Amino acid sequence: MKKIIIVGASSGIGMRIATDFARLGWRVGIAARRGDRLKEIQDLYSENIVTKVIDVTADDAVESFNNLIETLGGMDYLLYAAGCGWQNPELDPALDRRTLMTNVVGFTRIVNAAYAYYKATANDSRGHIAAITSVAGTKGIGVSATYSASKRYQWTYLQALDQLAHIQGVDVAITDIRPGFVDTPMLKSSKTYPLEMSIAYAAPRIECAMLRERRVAVVDARWAVVSALWKLIPDALWRRLAVSL
Ligand SMILES: NC(=O)c1ccc[n+]([C@@H]2O[C@H](COP(=O)([O-])OP(=O)(O)OC[C@H]3O[C@@H](n4cnc5c(N)ncnc54)[C@H](OP(=O)(O)O)[C@@H]3O)[C@@H](O)[C@H]2O)c1
Repeated sequence: MKKIIIVGASSGIGMRIATDFARLGWRVGIAARRGDRLKEIQDLYSENIVTKVIDVTADDAVESFNNLIETLGGMDYLLYAAGCGWQNPELDPALDRRTLMTNVVGFTRIVNAAYAYYKATANDSRGHIAAITSVAGTKGIGVSATYSASKRYQWTYLQALDQLAHIQGVDVAITDIRPGFVDTPMLKSSKTYPLEMSIAYAAPRIECAMLRERRVAVVDARWAVVSALWKLIPDALWRRLAVSL
């Protein structure tokens, strides 16, 4: 039976993917800060799900993550789905700090711990590290400077890790999954965003990208077109656009 750990599984995309794999009979380790939410999810598939309260911004995050791998009996897949971000035009340092601690420091910690696990268990079976980044990394977004920069960091980090795995002969697939807008608690809004996707629509596309070991996958095809065009916008024009993502 395959084993997957999802960090950031107490709500939104991570929660949906956790229940999808548990329903298929996978062993699923779920982690986030809200233990009560994790317990509710575990109760749905108590035989297949194990939980661990992990705050990726805390110093003991790696130790807790390694404990979860042990409790689960190994890890074939890591999905890093933890994340936060806000529009922050006033550049509030407290919001910036939370974003950086979760999307940069916590992300790096957990992804590195997964890489170290696969490196140490070489020759057992192929490892998989996938992270939900975002199309927001495509260009710096004025009202979400830290969030968009943190997502660009994740893109670059995963690319670097893929090269490092090749250099070091570590058998691990690295997947960078970049969704457009998904209707989750993160959006925290009653307004509808352009090309917004439901979780039910986005989750299978994210799962498919991970299982097919795509290096980079934009979710969905419409967002792939948007993101390709977005990259082509010259910087001189981009700075004049009042984009609010
Ligand atoms: N929704 C979108 O439109 C969209 C688009 C592109 C990319 N994404 C990305 O998708 C990922 C998932 O977001 P979502 O939309 O599903 O939002 P969400 O429902 O708010 O889920 C975020 C998850 O991250 C966990 N988390 C946050 N801070 C954490 C911390 N310090 N330690 C451990 N877990 C933490 C939360 O759990 P706790 O609060 O219980 O810790 C929650 O389970 C994020 O990386 C986000 O940037 C979202």
